[in-house]
Amino acid sequence: MSDSRQTGTVRVFDTTLRDGEQAPGCSMNPQEKIEVARQLETLGVDIIEAGFPASSPGDLASVKAIAGIVRKCTVAGLCRSLEDDIDAGWEALAGAVSPRIHIFLATSPIHMEFKLKMTPEQVLEQAVSSVRYAKKFCADVEFSAEDAFRSDPGFVCRVFGAVIKAGALTVNFPDTVGYAMPDEFAARIRYVREHTPRIEKACLSVHCHNDLGLATANTIAAISAGANQVECTVNGIGERAGNASLEEVVMGIRVRKDCFGVDTRIDSTKIYGTSRLVSQVTGVKVQPNKAIVGDNAFLHEAGIHQHGVLVRRETYEIMTSESVGIPRTGMILGKHSGRHAFEDRLEDLGLQVDRDTLELVFAQFKDLADKKKVVSDRDIEALVMGASAAAPETWKLDHWAVNTGSALGASGTIRLRHKDERLKTRVSTMKGDGPIDASFKAINRIIGKDPKLELYELGAITGGSASQGETMVKIAWKGRHWNGRGVSTDVLESSIKAYLSAVNAMEWELSLGAEKRG
Ligand code: KIV
Ligand code: ZN
Repeated sequence: MSDSRQTGTVRVFDTTLRDGEQAPGCSMNPQEKIEVARQLETLGVDIIEAGFPASSPGDLASVKAIAGIVRKCTVAGLCRSLEDDIDAGWEALAGAVSPRIHIFLATSPIHMEFKLKMTPEQVLEQAVSSVRYAKKFCADVEFSAEDAFRSDPGFVCRVFGAVIKAGALTVNFPDTVGYAMPDEFAARIRYVREHTPRIEKACLSVHCHNDLGLATANTIAAISAGANQVECTVNGIGERAGNASLEEVVMGIRVRKDCFGVDTRIDSTKIYGTSRLVSQVTGVKVQPNKAIVGDNAFLHEAGIHQHGVLVRRETYEIMTSESVGIPRTGMILGKHSGRHAFEDRLEDLGLQVDRDTLELVFAQFKDLADKKKVVSDRDIEALVMGASAAAPETWKLDHWAVNTGSALGASGTIRLRHKDERLKTRVSTMKGDGPIDASFKAINRIIGKDPKLELYELGAITGGSASQGETMVKIAWKGRHWNGRGVSTDVLESSIKAYLSAVNAMEWELSLGAEKRG
């Protein structure tokens, strides 16, 4: 494949659901992964790496579900260069409109000697035989030379040449440990282009980590050196310091088209909504000063800047907030707002919901508008995220009450309904170190499990005392982890809802596992 400067386009390979999700604290439940995959399709990525099917039955099931739903982009699954992994990968991907098997094997001296305990010749042989094996199932095979940047450049070119001959259509050059400097990385990509036999038959991809804060810079430098595909994640989430951030790479080359002369298929107006969704489902907040999608990215505080922007926006803005989908400030919604105004606002915010979700969210909006004078955009986003990405409710909150005070100690009473026992409720009252601890203990007593609370974070959706409380929790049980999120004008209720949503994610995943075994 000709280099990106000749084709004019760069493919976007999104690995939010694989490299992103495998980062500590970024796990998503299957329902959330499907939600994110749908959003990535709307965003216009070319390839969605949906997971690592051989890593767990849950991952295999999620990749399979995503492969069955996504229509407009390629769905990839990561596999070690082992036949069992490739079998699992194909089991997950076979139903996709456009499947891709993505195989990786390390090529750096340190990885080959200490991790793989293989010689370079053995690595070369295994790379080729695994690509040949994958080609029996799938025409579209990508090969990644893990830790390519710390590998001998000549050896990487030999491996790339051999796997291309074996049928790999994409060869990926990762800076797995985020060690490269932009000039060096660009020079290496040029070297690979010039020294890899048959490189013109393949797409040359890059995959950069952010350990030195250079993942975006290195990715963009690689584009200027002719890379055809960039691997990145939404909000830059990923192993350790993360991956190259999709929004930064995409807007970097779009805003500076004068430097690169290439573009992507991304609909940039969907960037902000995608960023919010990923932040909501992972529970990982976007730092306020994050480029493109941070809360402050388009705010001007200094008087001199405000004046400049008012006179002419371009004095201090190199792109518009609308171009990345940050909604224009529209009319204020409150309890007198009707369904039309509400639907219009959803559209402005880039939030797409089906009819049933719309009914649910509109009813919740009306409830909220009764409690709060003004319902903010953030409130609306929170309602939509809560309604669309949540796991099915095994347990439904029926009632809660807490008793607390400086002299009293705290107790919490929770009443839940189980989905299979619609008319029956179960109640428990427990004492605890504060009302939240007591309420969580009461939930545990009812569900008959004792998950560990790994994270509890309480924040406000907007400023001011009328703001809704937003709680994020992570729970762990038998070595597995689940996120939960709850929103309410009452912070105790938002905490209870968050804990219960994590419990529901756990119950749902465990029930899927039970179905698989049964
Ligand atoms: O960072 C890396 O090397 C990877 C590969 C598996 C592509 O994530
Ligand atoms: Zn990676």
